[in-house]
Amino acid sequence: MADIDPIALLGAEHRLILQVTACIEAMGAVAARTGHVNEAAAGAAVEFMRTYADRCHHGKEEDLLFSALDALGAHGLDLAGLGEEHVRGRKLAAASARAVAADNGAAFARAADGYVELIRTHIAREEAGLLPRAGELLDAEARAELARRFAVVAADTLGEETHARMIARANALAERYGVARADADPAVRALLFAHAGCRPGEEERALQPPPAHLAHLPAAWRGRPLGELERHLRAHHHQDVLTTLDLLLPIADKVAGQHGPTHPGLGRLGGELLAFRADFQAHIIDEEERVFPAAGGIQPPDRAAVSASLREHAALGERMARIRACCDGYQPWEGCSGNLRTLYHGLESVDHRLGETVHLEQDVLFPRLLSGLV
Ligand SMILES: [Fe+2]
Ligand SMILES: [Fe+2]
Ligand SMILES: [Fe+2]
Repeated sequence: MADIDPIALLGAEHRLILQVTACIEAMGAVAARTGHVNEAAAGAAVEFMRTYADRCHHGKEEDLLFSALDALGAHGLDLAGLGEEHVRGRKLAAASARAVAADNGAAFARAADGYVELIRTHIAREEAGLLPRAGELLDAEARAELARRFAVVAADTLGEETHARMIARANALAERYGVARADADPAVRALLFAHAGCRPGEEERALQPPPAHLAHLPAAWRGRPLGELERHLRAHHHQDVLTTLDLLLPIADKVAGQHGPTHPGLGRLGGELLAFRADFQAHIIDEEERVFPAAGGIQPPDRAAVSASLREHAALGERMARIRACCDGYQPWEGCSGNLRTLYHGLESVDHRLGETVHLEQDVLFPRLLSGLV
């Protein structure tokens, strides 16, 4: 951890703070229009402002970086002014918290506006002056020492679990308000997680940004109610996969009779497909009973059921990989039967649909359910 560059780390934290700031801006606009505050979302944002932006990030700047630079005679840097901005940020976070508690949309919108403007200006000032200057003034030894102290502060003030939870909250808010995620940049993600030794826990398992070919999926669902997504998953993912499997099973039997003797993978395929179908059906029955109802916002999420879903998704992915291997990656050969082409085409669509389902659940549904952002 000591090999983390502390200046790059502060820059990565700025990206995450700006991500939440954009969500706060969107929340403020809604609060101004409706006169009410979305308690779950605004509560999560206020917790992030206080815990991550202030205690963790500003704490490291004030307690460690500013004094290190002061000792090196950092002339021309307005460290006192930056510190005053931190104090103003704290006051605006407190005003936001009061507005959330009172469900006062107008007061929340005012505090949110002030916070958004303050943080954007403050971070721009630090990135134009403070961080580049720190880069010039701190040698390798001073940076390593600073990184070590940053890790101690982070571990003492927040701890690994809170750290990981704050990143998860920030991402759940981004999904909710249609804001781009800072951790889509792998370098930023690596810094955010390596710090304080935190790892994505079960709640944060969903933090993996989706692979490029599925990246459009979470974006398409941002800002839409979870109940709508839940209904879509039941009808167009769970049910579609089962229906397609039932159509393909008899074709797989025919293909095994035609090609099994020369292609041993196709001889095994029927058994693999039956096992996949059984596991998939058991999975969706459980998930629809124990996880999905929380999307309605009435009952709290069942964390153990979400964890079970994550494990089952991994197991289904392994079964799907075995099916793919039996079929040579769904590549038909010259002169093969029409049944085989139909089967490969159908299985490839099941494989693709399973990938979409898992990502919609893990990247959109679960993180929002676990953060209460229905
Ligand atoms: Fe700062
Ligand atoms: Fe900062
Ligand atoms: Fe699932």
